[in-house]
Amino acid sequence: MTKEALLLTIAVLGGTGKEGKGLAYRWAKAGYRVVIGSRSSEKAVKAASEIMELLEGSSSVVGTTNIEAADQADIAVLTVPYSAHRDTLEGVKSSLKGKILVDVTAPLVPPKLSKVQMPPAGSAAQEAKEILGEDVEVVAAFQSVSHEHLLGEEEIECDVLVTGSSKKAREEVLRLVEAADLIGWDAGPIENSVVVEGLTSVLININRIYGSKHSGIKITGVQKQSSEST
Ligand SMILES: NC(=O)c1ccc[n+]([C@@H]2O[C@H](COP(=O)([O-])OP(=O)(O)OC[C@H]3O[C@@H](n4cnc5c(N)ncnc54)[C@H](OP(=O)(O)O)[C@@H]3O)[C@@H](O)[C@H]2O)c1
Repeated sequence: MTKEALLLTIAVLGGTGKEGKGLAYRWAKAGYRVVIGSRSSEKAVKAASEIMELLEGSSSVVGTTNIEAADQADIAVLTVPYSAHRDTLEGVKSSLKGKILVDVTAPLVPPKLSKVQMPPAGSAAQEAKEILGEDVEVVAAFQSVSHEHLLGEEEIECDVLVTGSSKKAREEVLRLVEAADLIGWDAGPIENSVVVEGLTSVLININRIYGSKHSGIKITGVQKQSSEST
């Protein structure tokens, strides 16, 4: 467990769902204090106790409303469907001032999930930045990582491309990627999130054609250093 993990509280807004619960599990396991957020505090408490059970009680995971979770957060992570993206962000905006928001949203528009359909802002993360303003750093990450193996121990064959509104915020999120036992790459400014978010539809398309549930991506041709040494 790193010193940073002991000090930081991560709020996972929408952490009762598939992707959020998996990420929450991994960060709790790494020693972070995790707060699961939900529209319903009962649902959040239940999700938190399920994660605690998986970890055999050795970690700190609690559940509450999205607003209270955002209030308690050092870093907040958004894991709701794109249809709930704007409303959820507007609801927690004032609680996120001075913090980092990690936006996991892929802007999928049913029924054509396998077709890239970007919002007018360019990407979900850029839309989040427009909603939250200058007081919040927005970093897009984890869109290519299927929830399928997040609650398990097996190696996940998918790298994480991290884009965001400042290098410092990206570095902070790269440490969270590493804590989740994944390999992350600084993929540049928030404008580059267009490509990364779009990859989700590409992977959904590949899953459908080739009969998988968790196709992923790998960066090749470059040596990886630990983010803690950058
Ligand atoms: N699933 C994956 O493998 C995966 C992979 C990469 C990225 N993502 C992205 O991660 C995000 C979450 O995906 P998911 O599969 O975890 O979604 P999900 O399980 O369908 O939903 C996550 C949570 O969002 C909240 N939510 C659902 N509908 C809502 C609404 N209308 N208004 C407000 N909150 C609502 C719910 O929490 P409460 O009811 O507790 O409020 C729900 O538990 C999406 O943007 C997705 O594109 C998912």
